[in-house]
Amino acid sequence: MKKVAIMTSGGDAPGMNACVRAAVRGAVYHGIDIYGIYRGYDGMIEGDIVKLKSHSVSNIIQKGGTILKSARSEEFKTKEGRKKAFEHLQKLGIEGLITIGGDGTFTGAKIFYEEYGIPTVGAPGTIDNDLYGTDYTIGFDTAVNTALGAIDKIRDTADSHNRLFFIEVMGRDSGYIAIRSGIGGGAELVMVPETSTSIKEVISTLQEGWARHKTSSIVVVAEGDEEGNAMEIAAKVKKAISQKDIKVSILGHIQRGGSPSAQDRILASRLGLGALEGLMKGEKNVMAGIINDKLVYTSFEDSITKNKPLNQELIHMVKVLSV
Ligand code: F6P
Repeated sequence: MKKVAIMTSGGDAPGMNACVRAAVRGAVYHGIDIYGIYRGYDGMIEGDIVKLKSHSVSNIIQKGGTILKSARSEEFKTKEGRKKAFEHLQKLGIEGLITIGGDGTFTGAKIFYEEYGIPTVGAPGTIDNDLYGTDYTIGFDTAVNTALGAIDKIRDTADSHNRLFFIEVMGRDSGYIAIRSGIGGGAELVMVPETSTSIKEVISTLQEGWARHKTSSIVVVAEGDEEGNAMEIAAKVKKAISQKDIKVSILGHIQRGGSPSAQDRILASRLGLGALEGLMKGEKNVMAGIINDKLVYTSFEDSITKNKPLNQELIHMVKVLSV
């Protein structure tokens, strides 16, 4: 393999740059030409592709966001879009692809591989940590720490005013950020899409706490919880306990930015190099991941369709520790 291309796609995540850097430096080390595709699949369709050198990735390991930019491409979902993308890669003689992103990115990569056969290895980059085939995804650890920092600050003001706060964290279909930041932040309750917590249970848990002389309370809500988002849940709770001063804080995209944590930089570097060296060894249509500290490759099919369940021990722990 003499020429490969790399891109970032979907929601950005802290550590994506460290991943790009590792793949580029690995390519230079192994004497392989590497091209950067800008703006994910949109850039592939438009031929926004530039040759990268070792110095192209200098001074980026500590930066959040992605120097290659990112997009959620609608056009790549069409046959015509993918054909245009293939033609650009063919013109440049690209023999392998590294795609950094989440399930949408790998769904696209899988279809593209099936249609055009360009070997592709993915690196899991999403703050949601919702991909099967890796213990952690790039950006998750940083996002949890960002959420935790915010929860700590909210706790100060919640306590001063004896208030109940509902804090919404990201995670459309997954409660990973919520459960970790909730445990780290000492939340009374964590509401995640993977388990159902009724409004009745929320109210009784809070009331039990107040009966034990708790003056303020923090409930961490994953945005995709089945009872609704934090605003909706707070409104339902307010109906039953109108005497309590209730506030809502939505952390939003702050969780997607910032300098990556040490853990994310190291994970991203391993996965970037792992993706490149996987391609060199003949891996294709797979995602590189780290399980039990070992580099493994999992088919795109499994990584996007198989469920990575939340650790039940953590869910149990939130209940026990909030007594
Ligand atoms: O997939 C990562 C993520 O941050 C989710 O947690 C969130 O629901 C979504 O992306 C938001 O996407 P966008 O920035 O495109 O609105």
